Amino acid sequence: MSSSSAVLTQTIETIEWTPAGVVMIDQTRLPRETTFVTCRTYVEVADAIRHMIIRGAPAIGVAAAMGVAIGALHSENLAADMPVICETLAKTRPTAVNLFWAIDRMKKLYASIAHEPLGVIREKLITEAQKVREEDIAINQAIGRHGADLVPDGKTVLTHCNAGALATAGFGTALGVIRAAVLQGKKIDVFADETRPFLQGARLTAWELQRDGIETTLITDNMAGHFLKSGRIGCVVVGADRIAANGDVANKIGTYGVAVLAKENNVPFYVAAPISTLDLTLSSGDLIPIEERSALEVTHVQGVHVAPDDIKVANPAFDVTPNRYVTAIITERCVARTPTTESLKTLAL
Ligand code: MRU
Repeated sequence: MSSSSAVLTQTIETIEWTPAGVVMIDQTRLPRETTFVTCRTYVEVADAIRHMIIRGAPAIGVAAAMGVAIGALHSENLAADMPVICETLAKTRPTAVNLFWAIDRMKKLYASIAHEPLGVIREKLITEAQKVREEDIAINQAIGRHGADLVPDGKTVLTHCNAGALATAGFGTALGVIRAAVLQGKKIDVFADETRPFLQGARLTAWELQRDGIETTLITDNMAGHFLKSGRIGCVVVGADRIAANGDVANKIGTYGVAVLAKENNVPFYVAAPISTLDLTLSSGDLIPIEERSALEVTHVQGVHVAPDDIKVANPAFDVTPNRYVTAIITERCVARTPTTESLKTLAL
């Protein structure tokens, strides 16, 4: 096991505001093709979120903020258009609360400047969207600094889905913790769950970590228990799409099973997420809306039909891990150990 060749390139631009429009790396095509999509309207941004050209809770938040900004840029009657723009973006994906957080932030800013000339409003909304992106990178670096100390040296970190640079504006939440631990000089390696059905682990986490020279082993989701029992996994680190007030965590489908297996095998289970992923309006994870995605993601693997025709399919994109399985939530502000309603309320203040 070695991380000595880690280079931490960090050159992936997930999303950028450019004069041509909102440019995103196309995450449906990675790792086979590195291509970029330019969204020139808010409707195109909404489509990119819905079709997972951009995905991952913080990245979805940045895209939504830029979607509002590009909508404003092309509107001649913002008072009438703003609610439509926000509603269109809000209807894309229901689980990641960062989407709604970012839209609210843009709405609040608009409300405070609505009396100003249209040109000034547009400029301010564009600047705010760029700020959401820049802040996200800084937040992830802080999450990394707080989480790195928790990662045991000389062991393997298991992660699920992709909570990396691609899922954020840069650096990543769970992968940010791993990157920061490597930067501290820890000799760690990573086991990446492939993450059926959309394969964010196999396609995106494996690609990101390999580019950084961080030793990574790809496993299928049903191997996680085997390796958690083996003693080589020092901790699990995952991201989150929404964390309820009591510390229940919604994250990519399969996370709950990993958390239960981690507890059974006395392996710490860490959730790395920005404070914008906390939803204190929901008392428990039972209230988190879970996105149901197309059956084609289950019946097909990379376009190849693997199931019988007309088979019934369930495809919840997320599950909820009850707080009792969460060893700690790592945020940009601090580490909340054994999260409770009380500790999270204080944390969010
Ligand atoms: O469906 P996705 O790919 O958007 O789901 C992503 C996840 O579940 C991530 O773990 C989560 O959004 C955190 S990303 C820092």
